[in-house]
Amino acid sequence: MSIQWFPGHMNKAKKEIKDLVKNIDVVIELLDARAPFSSCNPLLQNIIQYKKKIRLLNKADLADEKLTQKWINFFQKDSDSYAIAGNKDDLKQKNQLIKLAQSLSPNRTSFEKPLRVMITGIPNVGKSTLINKLIGKKSAKTGDIPAVTKANQCLVLTDSFLVYDTPGMMWQKIKYPQIGYNLAICNSIGRNACDEELLALYLITYLREHYIEPFVMRYKLNSHEILNMVEGEILQLVGKKRGCILSGGEIDIQKASEIIIQDFRHGKLGRVSLETPALWEKWIKSAKLHEEEAEDNND
Ligand code: G4P
Repeated sequence: MSIQWFPGHMNKAKKEIKDLVKNIDVVIELLDARAPFSSCNPLLQNIIQYKKKIRLLNKADLADEKLTQKWINFFQKDSDSYAIAGNKDDLKQKNQLIKLAQSLSPNRTSFEKPLRVMITGIPNVGKSTLINKLIGKKSAKTGDIPAVTKANQCLVLTDSFLVYDTPGMMWQKIKYPQIGYNLAICNSIGRNACDEELLALYLITYLREHYIEPFVMRYKLNSHEILNMVEGEILQLVGKKRGCILSGGEIDIQKASEIIIQDFRHGKLGRVSLETPALWEKWIKSAKLHEEEAEDNND
């Protein structure tokens, strides 16, 4: 099943971001450290391609530290961009970001020529939290600054440092099914666009393969036993262990699914990353193979 979510207002937001970007010196693109490839929206890449960028792998407190480092190395290969990990409780992050942005555009240091920094990313990746952290109490809305629309709010950090807020943007068309699942599991996709049971089954498959220890510990499961079970049976077992029972005695699969997804989102399954650069290489190859097979069958 493929998950797609591109509500109508995002078309308007896309146009507004395109207009704004012309007057921007540095873009801070927030990615979800648990799913950096999935959260690196190609629609935004297209808009910001010629800009100096800082890719902030946010929510790194929830992601697998070693894999986050691998992703940083992966994104650093892009010559126009810096990649760093961060999280909302990192006290050094504000200064680190300010200095990095200033170093990328050293000539924009005055009231007449302020540094203009745009914050972008998919929904729920942490943009507002970061802006609050950057601006703090000094927050000032300056809606009359040119090229600023209601959606693209300009906030003043100092007279020579302006921060532009932008609305969350999703992939216009999600190309690979894994992206839809990963973004939905990370809570970046509207609830009505996905089915929690399918998400939980996908997550169980992934956790069993990559993070079996924290998974069995959380739900008091037996790792040997679950290796021989299908995902649906594991979901039933988690429901039973967690007391998700309907009035007729059946397992409440919806509730069990929500428990697993929420546990992941709140870090209760440990620090988990949903993808690695190597996995992506494999998924893309396999998608290409499927496309070629489908073309052959059509011939
Ligand atoms: P957005 O503007 O990009 O849409 O995201 P926003 O700042 O509103 O943050 C979405 C949620 O993510 C918030 O939690 C926020 O506290 C959390 N968040 C932001 N940055 C970090 C981070 O670095 N680490 C962790 N662990 N959480 C972070 P919320 O309102 O409780 O929503 P949710 O968690 O239930 O989705």
